[in-house]
Amino acid sequence: MDSIIKDKNITVCVTGGIAAYKAVYLCSFLKKKGAIVRVIMSKSATEFVTPLTFKSITNNPVITTMFDNSDFIPHIGISELSDIIIVAPATANCIAKAASGIADDMISTVLLSATCPKIIVPAMNTQMYVNPVTQRNINTIKNFGFLVMEPDTGLMACGTTGVGRFPEIESIYGFIIQNCAARNHYFSGKKVLITAGGTIEDIDPVRYISNRSSGKTAFAFAETFISLGASVTIIAGNVSDIIMDSYIKKYGNENIISVRSAHDMKKSVEEKINSTDILCMCAAVADYTTECNTLKIKKNENTLNLSLIKTLDILGSLHKKTNQVFIGFAAESNNLELYASEKLNKKSLDFVIANQITGEKTAFGGDKSELIVLSNTGKRESFFYKSKNENAYLVLEYIARSLS
Ligand code: CTP
Repeated sequence: MDSIIKDKNITVCVTGGIAAYKAVYLCSFLKKKGAIVRVIMSKSATEFVTPLTFKSITNNPVITTMFDNSDFIPHIGISELSDIIIVAPATANCIAKAASGIADDMISTVLLSATCPKIIVPAMNTQMYVNPVTQRNINTIKNFGFLVMEPDTGLMACGTTGVGRFPEIESIYGFIIQNCAARNHYFSGKKVLITAGGTIEDIDPVRYISNRSSGKTAFAFAETFISLGASVTIIAGNVSDIIMDSYIKKYGNENIISVRSAHDMKKSVEEKINSTDILCMCAAVADYTTECNTLKIKKNENTLNLSLIKTLDILGSLHKKTNQVFIGFAAESNNLELYASEKLNKKSLDFVIANQITGEKTAFGGDKSELIVLSNTGKRESFFYKSKNENAYLVLEYIARSLS
């Protein structure tokens, strides 16, 4: 499957901060994904990186002034031509101008005239970023429809540590996918229930059995479903705090139900299933549990035998209503497609999303995945190794099209 941004016209506006050099990597990344990349640089950006660098990377002329004779493209032309505009890095000055409608150079003029999605990637000194004026300006442009990314926190060029760093290129790409490419509201009005992460089966007050699932895939699917118009409820088992926090920052926690064990997850799914249109069972539900000792087990003996009891299969025990869609996952170390198709049939699924959990391209814990989707109509589609966000979008677009 191709990249989402293949053949899209992306205009990258580079303003004057030390992170300007990172915009070179961003342009190179977008170009490799098949986009047609054009660059506009502010005057101060050219103090950090030369236009020639961007011209060489993008194979397109770089715009540096409003009235550049040789590579002149009128601002209206570039606004109309662009499918997406990204300001990266965006300085406090450029954000302030966008917030007040100032149009005194090519970037600010393009931002004022463009109607396509406009992504702002702020990167600046921490004090400038947290300054109430900058924060007010960011809120103002958000209200005007700009899509503003959160900068990273860490060591800054000036030697201090704080918020304001230019985010990783993969994160910027994830943001583009979630906010821009997903303009088709395939799942508008649909209620989606997603289970995430591993379950925890307690052995005693101290120990438990769980698995390596981080919940990354589930949250990538949740965000993608939202950007495709669905309303999403997540039933989360043991998931990474970072992933959960970043989701809550964007969407709040009202639609997240936290559970611990396979038994709790089953109960929660059963409570929600009647009001669900699409069930997406991403969770790595424990197959076995054990009776929890109320007191801590002491290490008296050389060996300890735990008696494990099979959990009930959540997906397998649900009765699918006519218009409901059930999507299951199959994480396998071997015989991937065979086991996945057995699950598709045994659990009466509409789709099963299969991924290999061993080898270099494992989806477990990492940011990337390689997936195969099998459908109950006998169709099969592969999704190559790429970011979980991008694959979530491509898979859901494929599923949406298959359903229609
Ligand atoms: N699943 C479930 N309830 C369980 C176990 C799994 O609903 N008790 C769901 C998972 O969320 C996933 C699908 O069933 O969508 C397949 O899960 P997986 O762990 O790959 O397979 P199992 O059915 O548990 O079989 P096995 O572990 O033998 O591969």
